[in-house]
Amino acid sequence: MRTEQPKTIYLKDYKAPDYWIDETQLTFELFEDHALVHSRLALCLNTERHAETALPPLVLDGQQLELQKVVLDEQELVEGAYQVDSDSLTLQPSRAQFELALTTRIEPQNNTALEGLYKSGSMFCTQCEAEGFRKITYYLDRPDVMSRFTTTVIAERERYPVLLSNGNPIASGEHEGGRHWVSWEDPFPKPAYLFALVAGDLCLLQDSFTTMSGRTIDLRIYVEPENRTQCDHAMDSLKRSMRWDEEVYGREYDLDIFMIVAVNDFNMGAMENKGLNIFNSSCVLAHQDTATDMAFQRVEAVVAHEYFHNWSGNRVTCRDWFQLSLKEGFTVFRDSEFSADMNSRTVKRIEDVTFLRANQFAEDAGPMAHPVRPDSFIEISNFYTLTVYEKGAEVVRMLHTLLGEEGFRKGTDLYFERHDGQAVTCDDFIKALEDANGADFIQFKRWYSQAGTPRLNVRSEYDAASREYRLHFSQVCPPTPGQPEKQPQVIPVRMALLDRDGNEIPLQLEGKALGNEAVVSITEAEQTLVFENVPNCPLPSLLRGFSAPVKLSYPYSRDDRVFLAKHDPDGFNRWEAAQGLAVDVLQGLVEIHRAGRPLNLDQRLVEVMRSVIADAELDAAMVAEIIRLPSEAYLIELAEVADVDAIHYTREWLRRALAEALRDEMSARYQILAAAGSGAFSAKADAMAARSLKNSLLSYLMLTGEQQVVGWCVRQFVEATNMTDRQAALVALVNSPFEQQREAALAEFAERWAEYPLVMDQWFSIQAAASQPGALDRVRKLMEHPLFTMRNPNKVRALIGAFANQNLINFHALDGSGYAFLADRIIELDRSNPQIASRLVTPLSRWRKFEPKRQELMKTELARIMAQSPLSPDVYEVVSKSLA
Ligand code: ARG
Ligand code: ZN
Repeated sequence: MRTEQPKTIYLKDYKAPDYWIDETQLTFELFEDHALVHSRLALCLNTERHAETALPPLVLDGQQLELQKVVLDEQELVEGAYQVDSDSLTLQPSRAQFELALTTRIEPQNNTALEGLYKSGSMFCTQCEAEGFRKITYYLDRPDVMSRFTTTVIAERERYPVLLSNGNPIASGEHEGGRHWVSWEDPFPKPAYLFALVAGDLCLLQDSFTTMSGRTIDLRIYVEPENRTQCDHAMDSLKRSMRWDEEVYGREYDLDIFMIVAVNDFNMGAMENKGLNIFNSSCVLAHQDTATDMAFQRVEAVVAHEYFHNWSGNRVTCRDWFQLSLKEGFTVFRDSEFSADMNSRTVKRIEDVTFLRANQFAEDAGPMAHPVRPDSFIEISNFYTLTVYEKGAEVVRMLHTLLGEEGFRKGTDLYFERHDGQAVTCDDFIKALEDANGADFIQFKRWYSQAGTPRLNVRSEYDAASREYRLHFSQVCPPTPGQPEKQPQVIPVRMALLDRDGNEIPLQLEGKALGNEAVVSITEAEQTLVFENVPNCPLPSLLRGFSAPVKLSYPYSRDDRVFLAKHDPDGFNRWEAAQGLAVDVLQGLVEIHRAGRPLNLDQRLVEVMRSVIADAELDAAMVAEIIRLPSEAYLIELAEVADVDAIHYTREWLRRALAEALRDEMSARYQILAAAGSGAFSAKADAMAARSLKNSLLSYLMLTGEQQVVGWCVRQFVEATNMTDRQAALVALVNSPFEQQREAALAEFAERWAEYPLVMDQWFSIQAAASQPGALDRVRKLMEHPLFTMRNPNKVRALIGAFANQNLINFHALDGSGYAFLADRIIELDRSNPQIASRLVTPLSRWRKFEPKRQELMKTELARIMAQSPLSPDVYEVVSKSLA
């Protein structure tokens, strides 16, 4: 924390470092009340920037360190021979190559920010990305400085039998007084952000993997003893990821050992440290008794994500933090393709698009909007965003779409070959794809530099006489902070034209036959495509698979959408049509409600839902997606000025109306699924799909208020053979008016799962998200619960995060109580964990979306946070930009 105004850092100011660090030798002495870090660095001048005759000072990054010793070329420096301030250590080398040895003292047990070396429970662990290494020792803490690391960890044997770091173990031994040590050597030069250390009393799940060249890799998952039985799914996911990266990208693992460690206190999901991934336990542990299907899928995706970083991130890393999406966007694209291959491709795409539109689009429209490659930041931790990750992945997906499977693979092969062992930029990535394919992505690169979500408006015209069908496209990207004007972007539109029976009409564009489906690139602000030989006026199926992250609008009537929902041969666009219909219906209802008129149910929506619920051929997971109404968050994002009350009221009204209209179909299907699912548990895709549909039907049916349905729900809660079904029943009860059943279920659940922190996180978050009045009081009471603590990020997300992000009707209470509560928590958390505090600002930062009264209340709270002193740069950046 600092009191002076934090500095903005610009991409345009990037300079290569003055010195390189060839070798880094670290020794950690871990104690209960402090740790000593001894480092020995072999440095050399960057001769591309400086002559040996004019050696610049060496400025090492360091924060919150107690410097105990400085030895330059075996000579201990006296105070005055170097300068230390709150962010750095500066000294003057006298040779172009030299050795520097430092000792710093730190207090991991008091590190509540969970950045650098800290304690999670009884275990020591690290989180260095992005700039946490500087809280361990003075260093050139920037990703373009890559060094070979050797690490020795010394600790009490009894408490810390397991001592881990990156690479391979090379030696170990005993010291007097019950202490022991292990040395690790990582042969691959790496930036400091990939450094990791773990010390604890951990148990091990071990397996092995044979790579495509026949090498055997030792796979290890370390967890606290009580979690030993919950690691099989993560191990399985790891082996499948390793195989997939070989098959799809030709990438083989490089070290002889790969380790995953689960920790309970972790700011993010997980971290790809070389050879030693450290995970939030929520992204490792999964057992049917304690984890939902969603959690299983998250574990699979995150294990894959971190593993894939070994190539896209570690072997080829980022030159500077502005390039973060180089590794994150690419790796999210890789993990989502992996998940698509392991599960249902269409359903995975629907989930990703739903998430992107409700959340990233909102970020793009808010005060923190930034390009996929930002050009400035105050605190880099604030830029681990949906834009850098999810939109970044969409940008890579568009490149994949434009080049095709084979061309894309040629491009990534060249990228990995050309840049192995280097720290590079997004431009280098694009250049490799261009060079391997003879492609030109000059205009495409605007996706990296322009923020905001482009709107793509489409109109059509059919001329029966000439049999010509014209599609007029116009694109415009709204202004974002610092970018008042935008240039047209390359928008790949995957599309088809459908005749009246829903068949695809062969596409003929300007004399060229394109087949039944084509990808057309829209590159101009205004552009018209003329399709020839079109026998009848078609209905266009546009942006299939969401081929570009844009807001598409085409004047479909509700009847058109019904037709597409039933007949589009493309599964994604069938869902999209049903979703579009539901959005249209809900937006209409909001207007009717605001005008004070009675709401009415559009039977076309009922019919679409009826037909899919009865369709036993359709993938049950698809049915579940189609009957899920668009979220409140997405409806808020779509609105010019969001009326939270009207959105909540009409959406709930529509859910109930649908449940009543489809009661018979829903209960028939529910009962079939409940009977079929009551046998042995299966984690296969079709079993998960069946549970997903069953539980979505249950949540609808509960809205009818029928005693019989409450009985089914209670039975499901009691008899469930897995957490997915149990939790779904609990959610339905908690959101129902049946107080007695609700309280009984909550109490029983809490008693049964008190020993399982991740299960209790669910218990907190279900209650925090329940929309009945009085939610804030309930959240306040839950903060007093013995299992709740503000020191654990998962707990904060489960209770405070769920309330502010998922309980919109209560968070936006018109007396401002929700806003004030959140601001208090942000202020409180900023003193212990600025990264988590900063994340919590998001809901308040969106004040421009709401009507004047709420705007004022939200701004008042932002101003109150702003007035705090000290304020972390993390929170300062988000709050000041929100108020700008
Ligand atoms: N590189 C990690 C991942 O995406 C995320 C680490 C984020 N850390 C942070 N302090 N923001 O897999
Ligand atoms: Zn990542």
